[in-house]
Amino acid sequence: MSTFMNILFLVLHILLGECAVLYRKAGTDLTIQCDGASSKDGVEWKFKDERIAKIVKGFKLRGPIFPSGSNKYHPDTDSLRITRLESSDSGRYSCSQGSEYDVHVVSAFVQPGTVLPQSSDAELHCNVEGDTKAKVQWLRPPDGQLYHERKQIVPLKSLTLKDNGQWTCQVQGLQINITLTVVGLQTTEAVEGTVGRNVVLPCSLPQITSRRVVGGKWEAVHLPEVSTATLDNTQKTLQWKGLNTSRVIFTNGPLSINYDIKLIKYSLEMKVDLCVLWSLMVERS
Ligand SMILES: *[C@@H]1O[C@H](CO)[C@@H](O)[C@H](O)[C@H]1NC(C)=O
Ligand SMILES: *[C@@H]1O[C@H](CO)[C@@H](O)[C@H](O)[C@H]1NC(C)=O
Repeated sequence: MSTFMNILFLVLHILLGECAVLYRKAGTDLTIQCDGASSKDGVEWKFKDERIAKIVKGFKLRGPIFPSGSNKYHPDTDSLRITRLESSDSGRYSCSQGSEYDVHVVSAFVQPGTVLPQSSDAELHCNVEGDTKAKVQWLRPPDGQLYHERKQIVPLKSLTLKDNGQWTCQVQGLQINITLTVVGLQTTEAVEGTVGRNVVLPCSLPQITSRRVVGGKWEAVHLPEVSTATLDNTQKTLQWKGLNTSRVIFTNGPLSINYDIKLIKYSLEMKVDLCVLWSLMVERS
């Protein structure tokens, strides 16, 4: 009778496909159950066929992927808690009584960073570990409109201020928000120079704390002395590396948000195209 029941149970397991597929956000905890476990028989928890721990009569025997000192797992007879999920925690978990779970950890981020200068390129990532084919829905700023791309990696070419704000990735009932800050540089487009007079070309960043500029330059097709001046961060402070000429004056001393230059006796052929501050970096804490 009991053998018959066991066989029936096994058949049911195969027919019903006991493996649950779970999608979870990176950084959260997950608890999975071991159905039918009893403290009498003990239980063995595995991740990708490697032992996490075996629990017999209240004793926990850690496996090689769960060395002492690690708080990753909290195994019990009837449940296993996995803390602070990371992509590498994706895969199959099982307990010796037969419960199986396929876990996919989802994380969203922007590359190369969350603070980027206007006209640079970015990539939005919504990484569904172990399920590269999963379709994601992106919502874009300013008001969460549907975005046409449904891929896990979305390239954003030449960022504009319209790309600034909250992007949301939706997949398998999960929702992850990421905030992209596009830093607008005020360029020369709005400047009107009077021929023969001096003109200041404004180029500035909004004040953002804990971020720094590590390089940049002005670009001017017909004015080589502007283009050759670059920002120098080899000193303790950021400075223009370029000399004043009879036509261009650079600010002396440390720079932080103001990168103006002054053109002497502006003439139409001095027209400067744009100021580009590249590698606007987020300082890692
Ligand atoms: C994401 O943003 C939306 C809209 O601002 C908000 O309703 C939601 O709670 C946020 N989700 C998370 C997980 O922060
Ligand atoms: C350029 O000239 C201005 C005005 O004369 C002066 O304040 C500044 O120090 C000079 N900059 C450099 C890099 O020599």
